[in-house]
This record gives sequence, structure tokens and C-alpha cells, in this order.
Amino acid sequence: MSTHIDKPSLNASSENAREGLPDNVGQDDHASRSGEHLCASARTEPDAEQLEEFKELERHGLLSELSRRRFVQASSALAASLAFGMPSPVEAQEAPHTQTITLQVNGQPQTLSLDTRTSLLDALREYMDLTGAKKGCDHGQCGACTVLIDGHRVNSCLTLAFAAEGARITTIEGLARTPDPKAIEDLSAVQAAFLVHDGYQCGYCTPGQIISATAAIDEQRKGDLSIVSWHNGQSDRPELTDDEIRERMSGNICRCGAYPNIVAAVRAASKGASA
Ligand code: FES
Ligand code: FES
Repeated sequence: MSTHIDKPSLNASSENAREGLPDNVGQDDHASRSGEHLCASARTEPDAEQLEEFKELERHGLLSELSRRRFVQASSALAASLAFGMPSPVEAQEAPHTQTITLQVNGQPQTLSLDTRTSLLDALREYMDLTGAKKGCDHGQCGACTVLIDGHRVNSCLTLAFAAEGARITTIEGLARTPDPKAIEDLSAVQAAFLVHDGYQCGYCTPGQIISATAAIDEQRKGDLSIVSWHNGQSDRPELTDDEIRERMSGNICRCGAYPNIVAAVRAASKGASA
């Protein structure tokens, strides 16, 4: 006895099964159009695997199985969005909120129209053409994006541009003694010390290292303590030893491993000398 399975016609039940399927599957898409307004934003072109799955199920008269699977997938996604407060597709497509902001960067006011979610790093690099601060990790882990805000070092990738409004922002471009440095004497003490001590290889981390070292030296001069100061029992104006430098610069990663020369440069700059 042979078992023969006829290709089912697209009767009412198979039309119902098309509910939730991509529009271009099959001939009669009347049923699928009925759900179009509800899930148009979530609908995507079927990939080859989905088409193959559909054809296989259709061959064996099992379109209702496909419909059940799609229903379970859709209801699971809906339940998750309700449970975790995830935005609906419509909310997620809302236009970004743009505002005008004036930032004081390297002594110059910069007025920009920005999405309120823009990081200070992106505002500097993408909108002001100040590309000295680098995007390394974009997660606050490498220090390549370090800038000064009112003299304090911050990771600009973790700082909203709007949070820096009204503050004094200093980037590597504004650190030199003169606006257009031509000689080593025109640079800041830390910049000059990095040059003299060869405190870099590829240079990608260097702007962040120099900004961070500038703040670290200021912090030590003000008497700020580090964990190394505590371990050494120094609670008043700790000396900037190599261990102190390593600890205070530990937020700045150098993938080239130029650390010995960086420590030497910071040590020299802290003593007011580049060499
Ligand atoms: S890019 Fe900001 S810490 Fe790495
Ligand atoms: S000099 Fe290359 S990452 Fe530091």
C-alpha cells in the first residue's frame, strides 16, 4: 500500500496558518495582510531557511504547525517586552531628541545642535573635529578618551556632552603653552617629557596618557592620596614614586607596552623637567 500525501489546497485553515507569515510567501496573502498593521515594523524578509521550512510544512499539510510556532515566538517576545519594559518597535523608532548646547573647549565656546544622548567623546571628535581624544574601548576601560573637565580627568566616552555644559573642557589640542606649538618649548611639561623619554610607540593611547599624567601630577601636588600612599603609610603629600605613578596612571592602557618610558616621562614632568 502506497502512502501518498497530496499537496493540500490553500483552504481556510491553511490561509489562517499564513497569518503572521512574510507577505511574499505563497500566492494568496489576504490573511497575512490582515495582520500587517499590527506587525509591519517587526516583519522582515524570510531567509532561505524560513522559506525551506515553509515549503516543507506546506508539502505535508502542516501549515498550522508553522502558525503555532510563529504564535509562540511572537507571544514570547511580547511577554518579554511587557516584563522588562522594553520599548515597543514604535517607541524605538521615535526621533532622537536634539538640543542646542554651548561647550567651553580649550577656552573657546562651541555651540552645537546635538542628540541629547551624545557622549562628550563623540561631540569632540564628530562635531568639533577635535580628534586628539581617542575612542579605544568606548566603555571606560582604556583611558584613550581622557580629557579634563574643570581640571579633573574623565573618560569622555562615559560622559554625556550635556553633562559638561558650563564646565571648562581641556583636550590634548589645548594643552600646549601656545595655541600653535612649533617647538618643544611651546609644549606643556608633560608633552615635552613624553617626547624626550619616547613615551609612546604607535601613539594611539598617548593623548589620553598625557592628559591623565597632567591631572595625576596636579592631584599629587594637591596632596591627594592613592592606595599606594596608604600602603606606604604616607598620608600627607605623598612623593610621586614610580609605584605611585603606576597606580595613578593605571586607568590608561597602552597596548604597545610603552609603560617604562611613560613612567619615566611622568616622573620627569612631575619634577618640573622634561629630561
Ligand atoms: S574609549 Fe573611553 S575609556 Fe576607552
Ligand atoms: S603607544 Fe601604542 S597604545 Fe600606547
